Amino acid sequence: MEKPVPHITRDGSHTLYSSHYGQYYHNPNGAIRESIHIFFDMSGLTASLAQNLPLTVLETGFGTGLNFLLLLHLRENAGHTAPVVFQSVDAWPPDAAIVAGLNYPEQLGRPAYRDVLASVFAQLRPGVNNAFLFGDVTLRVFFGAFEEFDPAPITADYVFHDPFSPTANPELWTSDVFGRLAVWSAPDAVLATYASASSARAAMAHAGWLVARCPGVLGKREMSLASGKAERLEGRRRVNEERLAKRYAEGEWGGMGGELDV
Ligand SMILES: C[S@@+](CC[C@H](N)C(=O)[O-])C[C@H]1O[C@@H](n2cnc3c(N)ncnc32)[C@H](O)[C@@H]1O
Repeated sequence: MEKPVPHITRDGSHTLYSSHYGQYYHNPNGAIRESIHIFFDMSGLTASLAQNLPLTVLETGFGTGLNFLLLLHLRENAGHTAPVVFQSVDAWPPDAAIVAGLNYPEQLGRPAYRDVLASVFAQLRPGVNNAFLFGDVTLRVFFGAFEEFDPAPITADYVFHDPFSPTANPELWTSDVFGRLAVWSAPDAVLATYASASSARAAMAHAGWLVARCPGVLGKREMSLASGKAERLEGRRRVNEERLAKRYAEGEWGGMGGELDV
């Protein structure tokens, strides 16, 4: 896999470009702004931080570690002191040297985060990397393919589904994947993703998630939220899960249908 290349997005924050996937790791219109919008504000996680709730976050695609840094940053802003577990997985995390050049600590006004990223990426080894502790925050990273990932018993309150796009990274957008994420999540967990493709929403619906449309940001009209509990999607426009799940099962999207639910 070729090394990803740093790129400055329009809000001044870095992202990486993967020539293997032909995609940026974040929205080129603003990496930090988009990540906060999708995974924190729209998901309801910003509100949970303000309530000082203990939280478990499950992420697919650790990438640069930006979402983890944002969690530390927004938690500090909110005065959140309850324990947090952040479990992520990535098959091809970027080299420590590349991550060391990313400007997130400066952009967030938190120079100390440079040491956080440096220590995490320097220590990452293939397989299970358990518990890099940052105060009351525990970071766990599985360095390997999602297909091999089997976290220790975990009950996520929030799922950040952040692989590359459904067309570029289709193996992470199947009903099987969303079914596994559901098994590792609380019944009222909220799954957030930037994707708005019908195929992605259909895979979530087929796996039993309730799915809602949600406003996107920085040039993207929509994103998606999903939960096992309708109340968590209140005020959002729901998709017709039954119809999408049926289309998925009938194999409308590239013959992905017909898989067993987990
Ligand atoms: C869009 S980037 C993640 C961005 C990341 N959340 C961040 O804040 O920088 C997608 C990531 O998914 C990882 N990935 C793609 N396919 C994977 C797979 N099958 N298993 C595990 N990781 C995978 C890639 O290595 C890449 O780092």
